[in-house]
Amino acid sequence: MVTGASRGLGRAIALALAEAGADVALAARSKKDLEETAQGVERAGRRALVVRTDVSRYEEVEALVAGARSELGRLDIVVNNAGVAKVAPLAEMTSEDWRFMVDVNLTGVFNGCRAAAPHLIAQKSGKVVNVASVSGQVGLPGYAIYAATKGGVIALTRTLGVEWARHGIQVNAIAPGWFVTDMNAPAFADPKLSERLLRDVPMRRTGRLEEIGPLAVYLASAASDFMTGQTLFLDGGYSAA
Ligand SMILES: NC(=O)c1ccc[n+]([C@@H]2O[C@H](COP(=O)([O-])OP(=O)(O)OC[C@H]3O[C@@H](n4cnc5c(N)ncnc54)[C@H](OP(=O)(O)O)[C@@H]3O)[C@@H](O)[C@H]2O)c1
Repeated sequence: MVTGASRGLGRAIALALAEAGADVALAARSKKDLEETAQGVERAGRRALVVRTDVSRYEEVEALVAGARSELGRLDIVVNNAGVAKVAPLAEMTSEDWRFMVDVNLTGVFNGCRAAAPHLIAQKSGKVVNVASVSGQVGLPGYAIYAATKGGVIALTRTLGVEWARHGIQVNAIAPGWFVTDMNAPAFADPKLSERLLRDVPMRRTGRLEEIGPLAVYLASAASDFMTGQTLFLDGGYSAA
């Protein structure tokens, strides 16, 4: 199951998982875009299930998990990727902005983990891959609320990795640096701003969408069975500098 699979990093992860042999339940709010991802999954020879889902609503995530299990047979991999960002100085942010980002970025991850919990625990196996952000560790003006949600995802991942180790479930996170997607395309279309953002990145480039899939596949596969509670930074060196 992949949330936020309608475009961007979530679509790239869903397609990489399909190419690695997974049937994929695809979740987001836009059905039309999910159907495009579904076509890609089917081109890779796997089954796709499209489930229109708002990850901030627990009942909808519970229905997504139930659908994945009944239509695809089982649930082994949970990728909590859906996310939103609004960038502005904190003094200009409102309580609605706070709730908007917390509800999707943090509650959405909690909902995915909670809805999958009884099934993964009962089968004594599972791979949870949360999508955090380099912002969960590195300060960037304008990103305070977003960063707080992503720091929360890193902490949730660490604690749940420890809590679920006894159940045979691994919980890890990917913290992407800059990848050009709908979330930040306007910033990268502005040459001055783009240059400013890349100045902090030792490799001086954004990530390519095809660079995230292999890491998600690694964290979703037996190759990472001894790793849990970790956040892996895929960021061109941004967090290391
Ligand atoms: N791009 C980057 O540079 C970057 C860097 C660090 C971390 N990230 C993280 O990577 C993840 C993917 O972001 P992206 O860059 O691929 O952005 P994106 O292209 O804007 O995609 C965001 C995805 O989340 C879905 N989504 C948003 N709100 C949702 C909701 N309430 N319920 C269900 N799905 C929802 C969107 O689908 P619908 O609109 O159809 O619902 C879309 O599929 C996010 O968690 C983001 O914070 C991105």
